[in-house]
Amino acid sequence: MARFYDRLAADYHLIYDDWDGATERQGRALDTVIRSALGTAPATVLDCACGIGTQAVGLALRGHRVTGTDISPAAAARAGREAARRGLEMPVRAADMRALPFGDGTFDAVVCADNSLPHFLTDEDLLTALGEMRRVLRSDGLLLISTRPYDRIRRSRPASTAPQLHGAGSGRTVTFQLWDWHEDGERYDLEHFQLIPAGDDWRVEVRRTTYRALTEGQLAGLVTEAGFDAPMWRQPEDTGFFQPLLTARRRAAR
Ligand SMILES: C[S@@+](CC[C@H](N)C(=O)[O-])C[C@H]1O[C@@H](n2cnc3c(N)ncnc32)[C@H](O)[C@@H]1O
Repeated sequence: MARFYDRLAADYHLIYDDWDGATERQGRALDTVIRSALGTAPATVLDCACGIGTQAVGLALRGHRVTGTDISPAAAARAGREAARRGLEMPVRAADMRALPFGDGTFDAVVCADNSLPHFLTDEDLLTALGEMRRVLRSDGLLLISTRPYDRIRRSRPASTAPQLHGAGSGRTVTFQLWDWHEDGERYDLEHFQLIPAGDDWRVEVRRTTYRALTEGQLAGLVTEAGFDAPMWRQPEDTGFFQPLLTARRRAAR
Protein backbone atom coordinates (compact mmCIF):
# COMPACT_ATOMS: atom_id res chain seq x y z
CA MET A 1 0.00 0.00 0.00
CA ALA A 2 2.75 2.43 0.97
CA ARG A 3 4.43 1.68 -2.37
CA PHE A 4 1.30 2.57 -4.38
CA TYR A 5 1.10 6.00 -2.73
CA ASP A 6 4.87 6.55 -2.52
CA ARG A 7 4.93 6.22 -6.32
CA LEU A 8 1.91 8.53 -6.68
CA ALA A 9 2.94 11.24 -4.18
CA ALA A 10 4.67 13.58 -6.64
CA ASP A 11 1.76 13.36 -9.12
CA TYR A 12 -1.19 13.06 -6.69
CA HIS A 13 -2.37 16.65 -7.28
CA LEU A 14 -2.88 15.75 -10.98
CA ILE A 15 -5.97 13.80 -9.93
CA TYR A 16 -7.60 17.21 -9.42
CA ASP A 17 -8.24 19.91 -11.97
CA ASP A 18 -7.18 22.40 -9.24
CA TRP A 19 -5.69 20.73 -6.14
CA ASP A 20 -5.17 24.01 -4.21
CA GLY A 21 -8.83 24.91 -4.78
CA ALA A 22 -9.96 21.40 -3.75
CA THR A 23 -7.88 21.66 -0.57
CA GLU A 24 -9.62 24.90 0.38
CA ARG A 25 -13.11 23.63 -0.54
CA GLN A 26 -12.72 20.32 1.31
CA GLY A 27 -11.21 22.06 4.35
CA ARG A 28 -14.12 24.51 4.45
CA ALA A 29 -16.74 21.74 4.29
CA LEU A 30 -15.05 19.61 6.99
CA ASP A 31 -14.48 22.68 9.15
CA THR A 32 -18.23 23.41 9.14
CA VAL A 33 -19.02 19.84 10.24
CA ILE A 34 -16.34 19.90 12.97
CA ARG A 35 -17.36 23.26 14.40
CA SER A 36 -21.06 22.43 14.35
CA ALA A 37 -20.31 19.24 16.32
CA LEU A 38 -17.59 20.45 18.71
CA GLY A 39 -18.14 24.19 19.00
CA THR A 40 -16.48 27.16 17.37
CA ALA A 41 -13.00 26.95 18.97
CA PRO A 42 -10.21 25.46 16.84
CA ALA A 43 -9.91 21.70 17.37
CA THR A 44 -6.95 19.35 17.64
CA VAL A 45 -7.35 17.14 14.57
CA LEU A 46 -5.54 14.00 13.44
CA ASP A 47 -5.79 13.19 9.73
CA CYS A 48 -4.69 9.54 9.87
CA ALA A 49 -4.61 9.09 6.06
CA CYS A 50 -3.42 12.56 5.15
CA GLY A 51 -1.82 11.66 1.82
CA ILE A 52 -0.26 14.81 0.39
CA GLY A 53 -2.50 16.90 2.68
CA THR A 54 -5.73 17.56 0.78
CA GLN A 55 -7.92 17.68 3.90
CA ALA A 56 -5.16 18.21 6.50
CA VAL A 57 -3.85 21.39 4.85
CA GLY A 58 -7.42 22.56 4.21
CA LEU A 59 -8.31 22.19 7.90
CA ALA A 60 -5.07 23.83 9.05
CA LEU A 61 -5.94 26.76 6.76
CA ARG A 62 -9.22 27.06 8.74
CA GLY A 63 -7.29 27.45 12.00
CA HIS A 64 -7.36 23.90 13.41
CA ARG A 65 -4.26 22.36 15.01
CA VAL A 66 -3.77 19.49 12.58
CA THR A 67 -1.40 16.53 12.73
CA GLY A 68 -1.05 14.38 9.61
CA THR A 69 -0.07 10.73 9.39
CA ASP A 70 -0.05 8.35 6.44
CA ILE A 71 1.40 4.92 5.74
CA SER A 72 3.22 6.39 2.73
CA PRO A 73 6.36 8.22 3.86
CA ALA A 74 6.57 10.07 0.52
CA ALA A 75 2.96 11.29 0.76
CA ALA A 76 3.35 12.38 4.40
CA ALA A 77 6.58 14.21 3.55
CA ARG A 78 4.84 16.06 0.73
CA ALA A 79 1.96 17.01 3.07
CA GLY A 80 4.58 18.57 5.35
CA ARG A 81 6.06 20.53 2.44
CA GLU A 82 2.61 21.68 1.28
CA ALA A 83 1.84 22.95 4.80
CA ALA A 84 5.20 24.71 5.07
CA ARG A 85 4.71 26.35 1.65
CA ARG A 86 1.56 27.97 3.08
CA GLY A 87 3.28 29.01 6.33
CA LEU A 88 1.29 26.44 8.35
CA GLU A 89 2.63 24.53 11.31
CA MET A 90 1.45 20.95 10.76
CA PRO A 91 3.42 18.03 12.18
CA VAL A 92 3.42 14.99 9.88
CA ARG A 93 4.85 11.51 10.12
CA ALA A 94 4.59 8.14 8.44
CA ALA A 95 2.33 5.80 10.42
CA ASP A 96 -0.06 2.92 9.85
CA MET A 97 -3.50 3.86 11.14
CA ARG A 98 -3.70 0.39 12.71
CA ALA A 99 -0.94 1.44 15.15
CA LEU A 100 -1.15 5.19 15.71
CA PRO A 101 1.88 6.71 17.48
CA PHE A 102 -0.14 8.90 19.90
CA GLY A 103 -1.37 8.60 23.46
CA ASP A 104 -4.95 7.87 24.46
CA GLY A 105 -7.41 10.78 24.17
CA THR A 106 -5.02 13.11 22.32
CA PHE A 107 -7.35 14.59 19.68
CA ASP A 108 -10.76 16.29 19.49
CA ALA A 109 -11.36 14.91 15.99
CA VAL A 110 -9.94 12.21 13.73
CA VAL A 111 -10.33 12.45 9.95
CA CYS A 112 -9.90 9.54 7.51
CA ALA A 113 -11.03 10.92 4.17
CA ASP A 114 -11.26 10.19 0.47
CA ASN A 115 -11.62 6.45 0.38
CA SER A 116 -8.68 5.56 2.60
CA LEU A 117 -10.48 3.04 4.84
CA PRO A 118 -11.66 0.86 1.90
CA HIS A 119 -8.02 -0.15 1.43
CA PHE A 120 -8.65 -2.63 4.25
CA LEU A 121 -10.03 -5.87 2.87
CA THR A 122 -11.11 -7.55 6.13
CA ASP A 123 -13.34 -6.63 9.07
CA GLU A 124 -10.42 -7.42 11.36
CA ASP A 125 -8.17 -4.75 9.82
CA LEU A 126 -11.03 -2.25 9.70
CA LEU A 127 -11.83 -2.81 13.38
CA THR A 128 -8.16 -2.49 14.32
CA ALA A 129 -7.92 0.86 12.49
CA LEU A 130 -11.23 2.14 13.91
CA GLY A 131 -10.16 1.00 17.38
CA GLU A 132 -6.98 3.06 17.08
CA MET A 133 -8.94 6.12 15.93
CA ARG A 134 -11.20 5.65 18.94
CA ARG A 135 -8.24 5.27 21.32
CA VAL A 136 -6.55 8.54 20.27
CA LEU A 137 -9.83 10.49 20.43
CA ARG A 138 -10.90 12.19 23.63
CA SER A 139 -14.15 11.09 25.21
CA ASP A 140 -17.03 12.24 22.96
CA GLY A 141 -14.46 13.20 20.28
CA LEU A 142 -15.56 13.31 16.63
CA LEU A 143 -14.76 10.76 13.91
CA LEU A 144 -15.07 11.77 10.23
CA ILE A 145 -14.71 9.18 7.46
CA SER A 146 -15.44 9.70 3.78
CA THR A 147 -15.74 7.06 1.08
CA ARG A 148 -17.00 6.80 -2.46
CA PRO A 149 -20.83 6.42 -2.64
CA TYR A 150 -20.57 2.63 -2.58
CA ASP A 151 -24.26 1.83 -2.06
CA ARG A 152 -24.92 3.24 -5.53
CA ILE A 153 -21.65 1.98 -7.03
CA ARG A 154 -22.24 -1.60 -5.90
CA ARG A 155 -25.57 -1.67 -7.73
CA SER A 156 -24.00 -0.80 -11.09
CA ARG A 157 -20.47 -2.22 -10.65
CA PRO A 158 -18.79 0.23 -13.02
CA ALA A 159 -15.72 -0.95 -14.93
CA SER A 160 -13.97 2.43 -14.95
CA THR A 161 -13.98 6.00 -13.69
CA ALA A 162 -14.38 9.04 -15.94
CA PRO A 163 -11.13 10.67 -17.09
CA GLN A 164 -10.03 13.54 -14.87
CA LEU A 165 -8.06 16.29 -16.62
CA HIS A 166 -5.45 18.56 -15.10
CA GLY A 167 -3.88 21.51 -16.88
CA ALA A 168 -4.53 22.73 -20.39
CA GLY A 169 -3.34 22.34 -23.97
CA SER A 170 -0.22 20.28 -24.54
CA GLY A 171 0.50 20.20 -20.80
CA ARG A 172 -2.73 18.38 -20.05
CA THR A 173 -2.59 15.18 -17.95
CA VAL A 174 -5.30 12.52 -17.76
CA THR A 175 -6.14 10.25 -14.80
CA PHE A 176 -8.63 7.38 -14.82
CA GLN A 177 -9.13 3.96 -13.21
CA LEU A 178 -10.13 0.52 -14.51
CA TRP A 179 -12.04 -1.64 -12.03
CA ASP A 180 -12.35 -5.47 -11.97
CA TRP A 181 -15.00 -6.65 -9.52
CA HIS A 182 -14.48 -9.86 -7.53
CA GLU A 183 -17.27 -12.43 -7.48
CA ASP A 184 -18.26 -11.34 -3.95
CA GLY A 185 -19.50 -8.04 -5.46
CA GLU A 186 -17.69 -6.22 -2.68
CA ARG A 187 -14.01 -6.12 -3.55
CA TYR A 188 -12.49 -4.81 -6.77
CA ASP A 189 -9.00 -4.63 -8.22
CA LEU A 190 -8.15 -1.26 -9.64
CA GLU A 191 -5.59 -0.06 -12.11
CA HIS A 192 -4.85 3.62 -11.69
CA PHE A 193 -3.67 5.19 -14.95
CA GLN A 194 -2.02 8.56 -15.41
CA LEU A 195 -1.17 9.81 -18.88
CA ILE A 196 1.49 12.50 -18.72
CA PRO A 197 2.61 14.43 -21.81
CA ALA A 198 6.13 13.52 -22.92
CA GLY A 199 7.18 15.41 -26.06
CA ASP A 200 4.83 14.37 -28.87
CA ASP A 201 3.73 11.31 -26.91
CA TRP A 202 2.40 10.20 -23.50
CA ARG A 203 4.20 8.68 -20.56
CA VAL A 204 1.85 6.13 -18.96
CA GLU A 205 1.99 5.45 -15.21
CA VAL A 206 -0.02 2.48 -13.91
CA ARG A 207 -0.43 1.60 -10.22
CA ARG A 208 -2.51 -1.29 -8.90
CA THR A 209 -4.36 -2.00 -5.67
CA THR A 210 -7.56 -3.62 -4.32
CA TYR A 211 -10.45 -1.91 -2.56
CA ARG A 212 -13.35 -3.19 -0.48
CA ALA A 213 -16.56 -1.33 -1.27
CA LEU A 214 -18.44 -1.28 2.03
CA THR A 215 -22.04 -0.08 2.04
CA GLU A 216 -22.99 2.77 4.34
CA GLY A 217 -24.77 0.29 6.61
CA GLN A 218 -21.77 -2.06 6.80
CA LEU A 219 -19.35 0.73 7.71
CA ALA A 220 -21.74 2.29 10.25
CA GLY A 221 -22.07 -1.16 11.86
CA LEU A 222 -18.28 -1.57 12.15
CA VAL A 223 -17.93 1.96 13.56
CA THR A 224 -20.49 1.09 16.25
CA GLU A 225 -18.74 -2.22 16.97
CA ALA A 226 -15.44 -0.31 17.39
CA GLY A 227 -16.91 1.80 20.23
CA PHE A 228 -18.50 4.84 18.59
CA ASP A 229 -21.98 6.27 19.12
CA ALA A 230 -24.40 8.03 16.81
CA PRO A 231 -22.91 7.05 13.41
CA MET A 232 -24.55 9.22 10.79
CA TRP A 233 -24.00 9.45 7.04
CA ARG A 234 -24.25 12.92 5.55
CA GLN A 235 -24.52 13.42 1.80
CA PRO A 236 -22.58 15.92 -0.34
CA GLU A 237 -25.67 18.09 -0.93
CA ASP A 238 -25.88 18.65 2.85
CA THR A 239 -22.19 19.10 3.69
CA GLY A 240 -20.62 20.54 0.52
CA PHE A 241 -17.97 17.78 0.84
CA PHE A 242 -17.48 15.85 -2.38
CA GLN A 243 -18.09 12.37 -0.89
CA PRO A 244 -20.58 10.92 1.60
CA LEU A 245 -19.28 11.61 5.09
CA LEU A 246 -19.77 9.35 8.11
CA THR A 247 -19.60 11.10 11.48
CA ALA A 248 -19.67 9.40 14.89
CA ARG A 249 -18.71 10.21 18.48
CA ARG A 250 -16.29 8.33 20.68
CA ARG A 251 -18.43 6.56 23.24
CA ALA A 252 -17.86 8.14 26.66
CA ALA A 253 -16.04 5.93 29.15
CA ARG A 254 -18.48 4.20 31.50
C1 LIG B 1 -7.04 7.95 -1.81
S1 LIG B 1 -5.73 8.43 -0.77
C2 LIG B 1 -6.41 9.81 0.10
C3 LIG B 1 -5.33 10.66 0.77
C4 LIG B 1 -5.83 11.99 1.37
N1 LIG B 1 -6.85 11.80 2.36
C5 LIG B 1 -6.30 12.90 0.24
O1 LIG B 1 -7.52 12.99 0.03
O2 LIG B 1 -5.45 13.49 -0.43
C6 LIG B 1 -5.72 7.14 0.43
C7 LIG B 1 -4.61 7.30 1.48
O3 LIG B 1 -4.74 6.28 2.47
C8 LIG B 1 -3.42 5.95 2.90
N2 LIG B 1 -3.44 4.67 3.59
C9 LIG B 1 -3.80 3.46 3.08
N3 LIG B 1 -3.64 2.51 4.03
C10 LIG B 1 -3.20 3.13 5.15
C11 LIG B 1 -2.87 2.69 6.47
N4 LIG B 1 -2.93 1.41 6.81
N5 LIG B 1 -2.47 3.62 7.36
C12 LIG B 1 -2.38 4.93 7.02
N6 LIG B 1 -2.66 5.40 5.79
C13 LIG B 1 -3.08 4.52 4.87
C14 LIG B 1 -2.63 5.94 1.61
O4 LIG B 1 -1.24 5.95 1.78
C15 LIG B 1 -3.21 7.18 0.90
O5 LIG B 1 -2.45 8.33 1.16
